[in-house]
Amino acid sequence: MKILLLAGDGIGPEIMVEAEKVLAVLALPVTLDRALVGGAAYAATGHPLPPETLDKAKAADAILFGAVGDPRFDNVERHLRPEQAILGLRAALGLFANLRPAKMFAGLEDASALRPEVASAIDLLIVRELNGDVYFGEKGTRTTADGQREGYDVMAYSESEVRRIAHVAFRAAQGRNKRLCSVDKANVLETSQLWRDVVIEVAAEYPDVTLTHMYVDNAAMQLVRNPGQFDVVVTGNLFGDILSDQASMCVGSIGLLASASLSEGKQGLYEPIHGSAPDIAGKGVANPLAMILSLAMLLRHSGGDEASAARIETAVAKVLADGCRGADLGGDMGTTALGDAVVSALNNQ
Ligand code: NAI
Ligand code: MG
Repeated sequence: MKILLLAGDGIGPEIMVEAEKVLAVLALPVTLDRALVGGAAYAATGHPLPPETLDKAKAADAILFGAVGDPRFDNVERHLRPEQAILGLRAALGLFANLRPAKMFAGLEDASALRPEVASAIDLLIVRELNGDVYFGEKGTRTTADGQREGYDVMAYSESEVRRIAHVAFRAAQGRNKRLCSVDKANVLETSQLWRDVVIEVAAEYPDVTLTHMYVDNAAMQLVRNPGQFDVVVTGNLFGDILSDQASMCVGSIGLLASASLSEGKQGLYEPIHGSAPDIAGKGVANPLAMILSLAMLLRHSGGDEASAARIETAVAKVLADGCRGADLGGDMGTTALGDAVVSALNNQ
């Protein structure tokens, strides 16, 4: 398997090092390649997703991605901003299905933003559509009749876009507890009404899965009130972005949640759900566990290596159960120490 490592910006390179240590311990038959992406690529080549990086991404079986975003380049033209690199990769590789699992780790209940007895029940999967919605709709700034500037981003979903993500979500539910909650805003948005209609159509092919619907504002509330009610949640790009950050804090830290971005084929991109965290970059305090868990997802989904994925997840769970905590979880272990703890847990398995 050919894996492309795209470390990116901010804490991206710091946490990538820890994932590479884990990969080295597993000694798998993989070939690694690297390329510049995001602000690092912009600084070196003038583009956040240079053709060479895109070519390497297309040629790879899987991509392990850190994060992009650099405040030094926040004011460059929007199409050259570091963040355009990840949007460009998602579009170019057809990565339409973003899987974001959130599960409480044993011993971490005290770190959750929720009461421990509520937090302990968290075991859900957010399936976020990744190629559409306001992120990819027409956007711009225009002048209104009374001379004001007006920004706009078009929210749009086609039937086929909704159908393919619905199939991914129903299949995921079949592999879990067979409950799917579709989150939309169908009481107000035309896009969401179509979304709901198509999800109901697709449901006919999955009679073993129980489908429910929830408005996104209620879903945000329910995720805090009683997250244990959710098994698989399927939603659009914008709602999924927000709900998954919220879910991370229910688990304890955004530094714990991994994600897989999948296409119709076996190729995938794997990354922590957080960004480049410029506020803590360079300090050696970033939590590398989301990055390491993203590697586990890579081995499972693109590598078909369930055994190695499970080994990594078991090692991370052991480290957390042993009380290893970074600053994000109220402890004092740094990035390197946490990575070392996972490596030693793997060596002791
Ligand atoms: P962020 O996720 O980078 O950080 C939010 C907060 O969480 C910060 O206080 C940060 O220190 C903390 N945090 C994030 N990851 C952490 C970790 N592993 N360990 C400990 N603490 C962690 O989101 P923010 O600040 O809104 O965005 C920063 C930059 O990242 C921006 O340029 C943004 O556009 C970009 N971004 C990139 C993403 C990607 O590459 N896929 C996703 C989200 C944001
Ligand atoms: Mg986000």
